[in-house]
Amino acid sequence: MTKIINGKEISAQIKEEVKVRALAHRERGIVPTLAVILVGADPASAVYVRNKKKACEVCEIRSESYELPEETTEEALLELIDVLNGRADVDGILVQLPLPKHIDEDRVTQAILPEKDVDGFHPQNVGRLSMGLDGFVSCTPAGIIELLKRSEIEIAGKECVVVGRSNIVGKPMSMLLLRENGTVTVCHSRTKDLKTVTKRADILVAAIGKPKFFDASYVKEGAVVIDVGIHRMEDGHLCGDVDYEDVAPHTSAITPVPGGVGPMTIAMLMHNCVKSAEVYRK
Ligand code: GUN
Repeated sequence: MTKIINGKEISAQIKEEVKVRALAHRERGIVPTLAVILVGADPASAVYVRNKKKACEVCEIRSESYELPEETTEEALLELIDVLNGRADVDGILVQLPLPKHIDEDRVTQAILPEKDVDGFHPQNVGRLSMGLDGFVSCTPAGIIELLKRSEIEIAGKECVVVGRSNIVGKPMSMLLLRENGTVTVCHSRTKDLKTVTKRADILVAAIGKPKFFDASYVKEGAVVIDVGIHRMEDGHLCGDVDYEDVAPHTSAITPVPGGVGPMTIAMLMHNCVKSAEVYRK
């Protein structure tokens, strides 16, 4: 029997847990606060930011929103980050990506204090993850670990194959699976004979960015399949990197799209915000 991993339900559980922790802070007079910065008018980014602010409300986290025009200079953005870094009442700073082309994303990411880097993108947090130290972890891969754990899927000793090597998903995903004692392989656009590698996977994480790329021929019978992709089809339907109808019957567990990995990203962002308040607020 295939288990359909319910990301909507698990993310709601996590947000409820975050809310309890946030309320405990509020009782002590500390209001966990996230500053969200959006530069420009990218419609997808605007939706993501709106959803992050909504989740803050649900979780009793205060959000402060900075919606800046497309022509904002890098200097002006860095100055705002500097002000927010210095404010004791701000626990998390999130700059929605992508940024307009004239702004250097790496400089911006590195300007955020690692203690307020709730996205887990700062090199110090990335380095801490690779060394197995505590810190903020990128939200999507952190959410995938929660999906696996809360679905009682064992990672230790398993063949884990991650397809995709981005800084936001693939690389931190591989580090987290390794931290959980998985045997990890990372595949990418230059991997030879991808299918041979993915066929070995007990746990396959698909983050290739191509709609319905993985059909059943890529998947071992009984594997756990985690689909990170989200794509809008011509008919308006959403799909993932995995051809769900074809693959699902061959798996022991699979995440649907929508309602799998997607909702976990924001839940883990909320988790990181309340953790920041717990660890760093004086
Ligand atoms: N753009 C796409 N995903 C993300 C994310 O997780 N965080 C931020 N800040 N921007 C993004």
